[in-house]
Amino acid sequence: MASAGSTATAAGSGSGWSPSSWRSKPIKQCPEYPDEAALRRATAELNVLPPIVHPREINRLKQNLRDVARGDAFLLQGGDCAELFDYCRQDRIEAKIKLLLQMSLVLIWGANKRVVRIGRMAGQYAKPRSSPTEIVDGKEVPSFRGDILNGFNLEDRQLDPQRLVKAYNHSAATLNFIRASLSAGIADLHGPLNWSLGHVKDPELKAKYTKAVDFLRDMLRFMHTIGADKYSELATVDLFTSHEGLLLEYEESLTRLMEDPGQKPHIGKTGTTNGTSASTQQYYDTSAHFIWIGDRTRQIDGAHVEFFRGIANPIGIKVGPTTPSSDLLELLRTLNPDCEPGKITLITRYGASKVRELLPGHIRAVEGSEYKRCVIWQCDPMHGNTRSTGSGIKTRRFNDIFSELQQTLAIHQEEGSYLGGVHLELTGDAVTECLGGSEGLEEDDLSTNYTSFCDPRLNEKQALELAFLVADHFRKERSTEID
Ligand code: PEP
Ligand code: CO
Repeated sequence: MASAGSTATAAGSGSGWSPSSWRSKPIKQCPEYPDEAALRRATAELNVLPPIVHPREINRLKQNLRDVARGDAFLLQGGDCAELFDYCRQDRIEAKIKLLLQMSLVLIWGANKRVVRIGRMAGQYAKPRSSPTEIVDGKEVPSFRGDILNGFNLEDRQLDPQRLVKAYNHSAATLNFIRASLSAGIADLHGPLNWSLGHVKDPELKAKYTKAVDFLRDMLRFMHTIGADKYSELATVDLFTSHEGLLLEYEESLTRLMEDPGQKPHIGKTGTTNGTSASTQQYYDTSAHFIWIGDRTRQIDGAHVEFFRGIANPIGIKVGPTTPSSDLLELLRTLNPDCEPGKITLITRYGASKVRELLPGHIRAVEGSEYKRCVIWQCDPMHGNTRSTGSGIKTRRFNDIFSELQQTLAIHQEEGSYLGGVHLELTGDAVTECLGGSEGLEEDDLSTNYTSFCDPRLNEKQALELAFLVADHFRKERSTEID
């Protein structure tokens, strides 16, 4: 295993690339640590710690995402906007796993497809900010940039490099508990009724959910009768991890030249391996299975794109109103020159009032190119719909979120492309951060349980409602196919 910073060329890495080559490029959202030596000490610690995820798992996700790109599976990605170290607790992790599982059950029922699950979990600790400082009580203070950089409390706003090591530890502990819960059978499809609906009391939502569960239970009973339920895949499910790859010091330190023992040698576009021998070694960012480039850091000549072009992980790119179609193709050619299906997920986030105008052009540019049927189109109906109330509380209207998702589904249907996934900010807790939904939350209700330190999240009920929207769309589509 080569340490991060090695300049060896390996399969998967482009010419002149190394885990540290991003350092020679212009960078946005870059933290300026006051103590360089302390930063070096922290990254030196990370360099020798073991990978958080294994290349084998990363490649398993890649295979699953290939199925999504082909239209044979659906991708559900969700979790907090900003995960805090404090969220690394049994009840919070369990609530999120259960919610993602409930949503995926609804989606399996609706879409009649396998669902690939990725949590915005176990590492979503760095946040891009519009300004490095903010005014609190009339005083200018550094903005909160996520627990990996500084703390929310005013006395903790100085950047502290030891937080990089803390982020590693909290990611590893969170993922350890996710793995333990899954292997202990939290996701056992034979007991879907045990995926309790928590605090969801809404009778209509409960009835819909029960119908989906009954359907799945009947199907499993039938499979048991004919002896087709012996496969362990039915008893356990995967839950992969993801975060925005914003803090490149951290990502670089966890990027390792490694081999997936189950993989064939990587063959590039030219028909040869990129390395000097038929190598199966590639650079994997072992901080998470999937990482994405945010809306503010996707400059083609910038540091983030440079870093991402060399790693073998599947990656996401946020696409919004400020993305020209020509940039989109240039990004794809830079980040996925071999046109690997499912390697790139385009996470579109325009806002309910702009999606109709902007998405068709992006779809046509990509699907009319060599990347036809190669990318995953995923809808993030959250980030284009953030607004402030009159009293300055950051919120989102459930109807705007619903509307962007509904329009996105319709547009893909019209364009003959496949909406392969959704990307949501959600929590298993009963928060009151987004307005509306079947509970009809109003501005005055927001203060009841508003706990997000960053963007407003869907609560369990609102998140399930969105899953039903997608499920209903696919059920209608299938019934017209049958007619
Ligand atoms: C996010 O996903 O938390 C985020 C900051 O999104 P975007 O980059 O799309 O604004
Ligand atoms: Co957010």
